[in-house]
Amino acid sequence: MRDALLALTDEVWQVSEVMTPLYEGKAKRLYATDDPEILRMEFKDEATAFNAEKKAIFENKGKLNKAITTLIYQMLEEKGVKTHLAGEGDEINLMVRKVEILLVEVIVRNVAAGSFCKRTGVAEGTEFKKPIVEFSYKSDELGDPLINDDYAREMGLASEEECALLKRDALIVNEVLIDFFAKSGLRLIDFKIEFGRLSSGEIVLADEVSPDTCRLWDAKTGEKLDKDRFRQDLGGVMEGYQEVLRRLSDS
Ligand code: TMP
Repeated sequence: MRDALLALTDEVWQVSEVMTPLYEGKAKRLYATDDPEILRMEFKDEATAFNAEKKAIFENKGKLNKAITTLIYQMLEEKGVKTHLAGEGDEINLMVRKVEILLVEVIVRNVAAGSFCKRTGVAEGTEFKKPIVEFSYKSDELGDPLINDDYAREMGLASEEECALLKRDALIVNEVLIDFFAKSGLRLIDFKIEFGRLSSGEIVLADEVSPDTCRLWDAKTGEKLDKDRFRQDLGGVMEGYQEVLRRLSDS
């Protein structure tokens, strides 16, 4: 019996090993499922920064980001924000509705950090009166350059109406996330989100929301608990992610 089980496990393992992803990004892979409208999104342990100039593997990063993204998507859905979440999957795989990802990344900033400080010379930690919304062109080749609504329209990435919708939805997501994280003693500094088009044409939140894509500081101490620990060589990268998950699960 045990041997039979082992053989079966082996077989399942081999099958999943040889499955070719439909798409492989820096932090995730997407696989087809039996349902043409549903994909399996696998969270990888690999981490990259500065457009993959810096790379590392962190054990459990996939698990942690999968768990954090799931909690956040479930909470957003409860608040009426539509996402591509389709099912919980397993430890490192999330089931998602198939979308065509818009090549416009939307960044929302509440506090100055990262490339904003580099570009403007404004000191890190400076709080904005109102959130800043930025668009960037999703292109690894070009390093995700900053664009605006006019670029998006002329490049055929999104219409004017779609850009307005992306901005409006990103600000709603920001409000919901600020409150959600605040309950766990976390300050949402900024984040990047992506949107996708369902086969019905509806635009929904897609990709992931995790410490890879959000800057999160401890509300009291200002300690960084996100990917900046990797970008800035602060150490304890997964300890930061684990702490985010622990707090979100407890709240
Ligand atoms: P930035 O300050 O480097 O422009 O980053 C803004 C936010 O977007 C930050 O929370 C990290 C996130 N981000 C991504 O998720 N992917 C990226 O490729 C980049 C550059 C930033």
